[in-house]
Amino acid sequence: MGKLDDKIAIVTGGTSGIGKSIVEHFLLEGAHVICVGRDKSKISDLLEMSEYSDRLDFFAADIGTAEGIESLKSGVEKKYAKLDILVNCAGIWHTHRLESITYNEFELMFKTNTASVIFMTQAFMPSLQKTNGNIINVSSIGGLEKHIAGRSQYLYAATKAAVIQFSQLCALNYADAVRVNCICPGPTDTPIYLNKDFSWVKEQIPMGRLGQSTDVAKVAVFLSSQDASYITGSIITVDGGASLK
Ligand SMILES: NC(=O)c1ccc[n+]([C@@H]2O[C@H](COP(=O)([O-])OP(=O)(O)OC[C@H]3O[C@@H](n4cnc5c(N)ncnc54)[C@H](OP(=O)(O)O)[C@@H]3O)[C@@H](O)[C@H]2O)c1
Repeated sequence: MGKLDDKIAIVTGGTSGIGKSIVEHFLLEGAHVICVGRDKSKISDLLEMSEYSDRLDFFAADIGTAEGIESLKSGVEKKYAKLDILVNCAGIWHTHRLESITYNEFELMFKTNTASVIFMTQAFMPSLQKTNGNIINVSSIGGLEKHIAGRSQYLYAATKAAVIQFSQLCALNYADAVRVNCICPGPTDTPIYLNKDFSWVKEQIPMGRLGQSTDVAKVAVFLSSQDASYITGSIITVDGGASLK
């Protein structure tokens, strides 16, 4: 018996890195997963696995746009009678010196990392209220009030701090029906890093190793399952202690 048997889950950013690992762990725990991304080919390995063929679905959508979320909502509602879990994981990590921030970059970062979480929640909250479902938002230790790091995360940190505040307000206002929690990963080995020189890890991460996507996915399974039935509004760091520095 899996921890998520008979649950239907949407995972944005499910085509890569942390989101893809959440898709895999949810499948292992018995869930039916609606993976959302732009590039279906990145999960062709999972789609070809016969044990998952009737429980894994892919919807292409740009979740940084109103049209993308509207078409995803109507597609999901046409095909599925209910929804139990929403994981907002899609995101981008661009860094800038203060003097090189542009309005275009501001718009791209906030639409992708923050507006997507807000409008996906708005779109699917009514369905989640009907099932007493739950939401997991993937923020970052970069969004924590107590953790100010780096010289160039102005936009990224701001987008992720907004996700934390938004999550807590939703947790408070929908506590009677829907649990809403936030995971803040530290540096995690995914395709988000183009530069794979991780020589700084030993110094910056007290536990001495880079995070793996599975470290985050296991916490997502816990938070979305009945094991976490009394947990809402939590901000859980998965960072090997990085945010303690
Ligand atoms: N890796 C880290 O060190 C780290 C640390 C803290 C927080 N995080 C957060 O964890 C989340 C996942 O990061 P990751 O490291 O796994 O990154 P990743 O491997 O680059 O994956 C990013 C995912 O987001 C999707 N995505 C991006 N823009 C999108 C858009 N406009 N519409 C639809 N999908 C979009 C991508 O899908 P397609 O390619 O199919 O479009 C991909 O599935 C992000 O929110 C990130 O900020 C990561």
